[in-house]
Amino acid sequence: MRALTVIGNWKMNGSLSINQAWMQSVGEGMQCGMPAGRRFGVCVPFPYLHQCSQLLASSQLLLGAQDVSAHESGAYTGEVSAVMLQEMGVRFAIVGHSERRMQYGEANETIALKAGAALDHEITPIICVGETADERNSGRAIEAVRRQVASQVSTLQDRLVDCLIAYEPIWAIGTGKVASAQMAQDMHRAIRLQLAEFDHDVAAHIGIIYGGSVRADNATELFAMPDIDGGLVGGASLDAQEFLAICRA
Ligand code: PGA
Repeated sequence: MRALTVIGNWKMNGSLSINQAWMQSVGEGMQCGMPAGRRFGVCVPFPYLHQCSQLLASSQLLLGAQDVSAHESGAYTGEVSAVMLQEMGVRFAIVGHSERRMQYGEANETIALKAGAALDHEITPIICVGETADERNSGRAIEAVRRQVASQVSTLQDRLVDCLIAYEPIWAIGTGKVASAQMAQDMHRAIRLQLAEFDHDVAAHIGIIYGGSVRADNATELFAMPDIDGGLVGGASLDAQEFLAICRA
């Protein structure tokens, strides 16, 4: 049985005072009881990791980062290594988010190296894949996602089982245009079948979560799908009450 995982992705948002208030509200909300057998996390900007790790010390909410370097240490200005994140108590790291693929030219090969670096330091990589609107509209969505997944399989092999894959159709990110639950399920199924071509165990056990305009009012239907193992929540995770409602969905 795969655990349902709900992760917030704050992107480049937050401030010391906003974070404090958010952590307090979510901490209190979680103490009132959360469905059993689920994992919850939040990926915050690097400068806030230390503050948030302290605020989360006695919480069931796990800390995440939004990226990680493929390198261990050295002359890589601006990069943050997995060992540094581990020291901050980070348990998840997003890699290959479409915003990084598109705005910073991140390639599949780099993303797989980043995921490997995270795994080396007991951090669960959340590997993002997803098609553009053009690819979806021209019937090439599965082909586009397959290419991204294949590249991760070839580098990470059976270490993939310790990763999460986030299927995030690019046209659904931050647009309010959520994929229908059936459309998302079909892609999650396709990813799982592709992984089964490589290894049945990996396919059966890996968590595949959905991202792209997840909100409290669509989460229940999405999470009820057999191959959807939770969500990666952007905009809606900035609101503590909305995030709690998604975690309860
Ligand atoms: P969104 O973002 O929920 O705001 O669409 C999801 C993501 O980019 O991870």
